[in-house]
Amino acid sequence: MRILVTGGAGFIGSEYVRMLLGVPGGDAAGVPAQAPTALTVLDKLTYSGNLANLAPVRDDPRLRFVRGDICDPALVDEVVPGHDVIVHFAAESHVDRSITGAAPFVTTNVLGTQTLLDAALRHGAGRFVHVSTDEVYGSIDSGSWTENWPLSPNSPYSASKAGSDLLALAYHRTHGLDVVVTRCSNNYGPYQFPEKVVPLFVTNLLDGGTVPLYGDGGNVRDWLHVHDHCRGVAMVQEKGRAGEVYHIGGGTELTNRQLTERLLAACGAGWDRVVPVTDRKGHDRRYSLDITKISSELGYAPSIDLDRGLAETVRWYRDNRAWWEPLKTAGHP
Ligand SMILES: NC(=O)c1ccc[n+]([C@@H]2O[C@H](COP(=O)([O-])OP(=O)(O)OC[C@H]3O[C@@H](n4cnc5c(N)ncnc54)[C@H](O)[C@@H]3O)[C@@H](O)[C@H]2O)c1
Repeated sequence: MRILVTGGAGFIGSEYVRMLLGVPGGDAAGVPAQAPTALTVLDKLTYSGNLANLAPVRDDPRLRFVRGDICDPALVDEVVPGHDVIVHFAAESHVDRSITGAAPFVTTNVLGTQTLLDAALRHGAGRFVHVSTDEVYGSIDSGSWTENWPLSPNSPYSASKAGSDLLALAYHRTHGLDVVVTRCSNNYGPYQFPEKVVPLFVTNLLDGGTVPLYGDGGNVRDWLHVHDHCRGVAMVQEKGRAGEVYHIGGGTELTNRQLTERLLAACGAGWDRVVPVTDRKGHDRRYSLDITKISSELGYAPSIDLDRGLAETVRWYRDNRAWWEPLKTAGHP
């Protein structure tokens, strides 16, 4: 099995690569038995891509790293042939950045995905796993989304992800490409770029600083450990039905206030370190995924409970300052 992982130097993609290449660090349940014989990472190394995320597998002879843009058809045409499976994580991923500038989101997330899909089709890739997000549904006041819920994205990020998600499904329906789509909830864990809420808050608190809480702090998110997300993606890669969408959730919904309280406690800090800030524009109130389909069809269940996962994550950032300090001080565009 030869696998191409796009965005494999990012937060989730690198966890997927480390997991497939057998680096310990999580519950092995559900990790596919069939290890890759070769694994290529295609990554542009934008501000959020980081070769240090692949350091634990750097010397694995199965790993090949290609620095490049998924929007570059010539490069993609060179890289895709010879792979049985493409697992597509590469994306512009931060909602706040999409509010200040949507262009790279549309370019990478929509055009980049279409470029990859065309190459997959041209070169007869066996399977295309498209990693999407629960944000494509918009916001839900009560209950949970099932996979056939209409998409109603609210941010430029989620709209661009919805575009790529629908394109991937269209390539299955139109061309018969073997596409599977995963939509997951909010990930947390080690190696997450410190602009996202969990590593931002943890690293600010570890540095003795304050943390910005949007609006009334009442927005609800379902939290999923990155390793559980990757276990779910691996199950879908291996056993998901072509043309289908699978939700991957963590089963733990928290308001941002509740999440903040847990992070403060884990870092030994008090509520005086929280600074309320003006709410994000178009801020979705609540996300909630129904994970019945992946649980009943593929046997998925999250394995890392939130208290344990957050404690381990805080410990990781405490122990790995050398990883995040340069990222916080670099002043990324
Ligand atoms: N983080 C979450 O909570 C979450 C939740 C649901 C879905 N997702 C999805 O999971 C995927 C990975 O998210 P993440 O949090 O790891 O993001 P990330 O920003 O940490 O990583 C993205 C990676 O993609 C690479 N990349 C960006 N543009 C590229 C391009 N044009 N060509 C090649 N590589 C490019 C970056 O260099 C980086 O390594 C994304 O598709 C995202 O939409 C993330």
